[in-house]
Amino acid sequence: MATPDCILLTGAAGYIASHTWLALQDAGYTVVGVDSFVNSSPVVLDRLREIGGQPIHFVQGDVRDPAVLDRCFELGQTVGGIKAVVHFAALKAVGESVERPLDYFENNLGSLLAVSQAMQRHGVFDLVFSSSATVYGEPERLPITEDAPLRATNPYGQTKLVGEELLRSLVACDARWHVACLRYFNPVGAHPSGRIGEDPRGIPNNLMPYVAQVAVGKRPHLNVFGNDYDTPDGTGVRDYIHVCDLAEGHVAAVRYLGEQQRSVTVNLGTGQGYSVVQLAQAYGRAAGREIPLVFAPRRTGDVAACYADPALAQRLLGWSARRGLDDMCVDSWRWQSTNPGGFEG
Ligand code: NAD
Ligand code: WQD
Repeated sequence: MATPDCILLTGAAGYIASHTWLALQDAGYTVVGVDSFVNSSPVVLDRLREIGGQPIHFVQGDVRDPAVLDRCFELGQTVGGIKAVVHFAALKAVGESVERPLDYFENNLGSLLAVSQAMQRHGVFDLVFSSSATVYGEPERLPITEDAPLRATNPYGQTKLVGEELLRSLVACDARWHVACLRYFNPVGAHPSGRIGEDPRGIPNNLMPYVAQVAVGKRPHLNVFGNDYDTPDGTGVRDYIHVCDLAEGHVAAVRYLGEQQRSVTVNLGTGQGYSVVQLAQAYGRAAGREIPLVFAPRRTGDVAACYADPALAQRLLGWSARRGLDDMCVDSWRWQSTNPGGFEG
């Protein structure tokens, strides 16, 4: 039997990468992971071993350090050699990025450059980059297609926009490179085992982790940021996507790069928008308890509605989301209710 292809995941202990780790293993790949744990817990690795039933190949360190990346490629040599890299490692809090823009530029762009340089040193040119729907800023048209105008409205978004632009330039200059830029919409939910999920530090910035903490009794109510938007119920509308669907999108992208040897930029969303109130109600059903709502002013920088046209990912990658809002809530609740203190609780 041929040795399975080996994929390097940066930011491997993080929320989306940990789910992608399992999806890649399920699809027959071997995974090498690297993470500094700046925003994650080493306990994730125990859970991955437990769920996946396979050995964990992992390097702890900051991917801005070339020596750390060289160790990853050396470790990869022991399991068949790294064929592609999925670069997740980044800081991702929009508000924090406004307070500490230089830290975001340094970490997110520094890590992208270091990873690309290490790939070139080791003769690996297939790269999947975690981009974001944030590159669309305030959308002019819905659903959003990949050819929509791009603009950043905060330093975090700027790092994704510049990251994509650097990679497009690299591809244009050097035909060896094949890059998939995946623009995620709003990843939520958790692995159906309930053993891994999103574990934000401090007060959650994002809607579903906040709602989960209300459901588990950690917070008294959800503050709904704005109920006077031009949307059916006045609250913000987003394209929530189950993290396991997103993970499978990465498997499809890795496969596409290997087979087609072409670059691609696609939305990873469901194409379906739900409002804040709809999500809170669905979560209430999943958890068997009502989520108390308090209407609050709009949050600065928020858009009224944002959802994907996912047709290009379907056409090019053969991928589309399979899980609905109720699955997202049920799986999130299983994770939240059985791990109320997160990984280290
Ligand atoms: P996360 O914080 O859970 O995962 C990121 C991981 O990267 C963490 O484990 C962190 O410790 C690690 N990391 C950060 N900088 C590092 C460095 N320099 N060296 C080594 N490790 C480092 O976040 P996530 O939600 O899983 O996001 C993964 C990627 O997806 C990020 O690039 C993020 O910008 C992007 N993204 C996330 C969302 C979202 O809503 N979660 C949406 C769009 C895009
Ligand atoms: C969703 C909706 C809020 C919290 C962010 C980043 C984006 C991307 C994904 C990385 C909005 C409302 C929220 C709360 C609320 N990340 N809300 N009460 O803002 O669409 O996207 O995460 O790339 O870049 O900006 O997601 O989950 O924060 O908000 O009413 O306590 O929920 O106003 O309408 P957002 P979100």
